[in-house]
Amino acid sequence: MYTKKVMDHFTNPRNMGEIENPSAVGTVGNAKCGDIMRMYMDIDDNGVIRDVKFKTFGCGAAVATSSIATELVKGKTIEEALKVTNKAVVDALDGLPPVKVHCSLLAEEAIHAALWDYAEKNGIKIEGLRKPKSDVHEHDEDEQTY
Ligand code: FES
Repeated sequence: MYTKKVMDHFTNPRNMGEIENPSAVGTVGNAKCGDIMRMYMDIDDNGVIRDVKFKTFGCGAAVATSSIATELVKGKTIEEALKVTNKAVVDALDGLPPVKVHCSLLAEEAIHAALWDYAEKNGIKIEGLRKPKSDVHEHDEDEQTY
């Protein structure tokens, strides 16, 4: 059911963990399956994502998509990271079963959520960035809109 790459990233996830004093943190969730993905970024003054880590409480595909998403944005500029769509994530994993495609959407949203946090903290506007719909406000669950 899963490709070799999915199994590889699920059993040996890259960049798992958290960054102390990160430049940006984004947390997103999916109400239907209850899975949650958090992405931490360390971004330098030139807008390059020097480091990225994730923590995912979710299914195997969510872990694999988080892992590959961190690889796709690490060392990239903010503009390049915004081009990492859920399709790019699925392609990089050599495909996902149709019922698991929503997991890759979570990865795309986690990137946007982290960059949204970065833009807000620094008072900047990032072209092409959209506020993630499934942003999780941990202490205010009722506020979530899906
Ligand atoms: Fe929902 Fe995977 S089943 S993120």
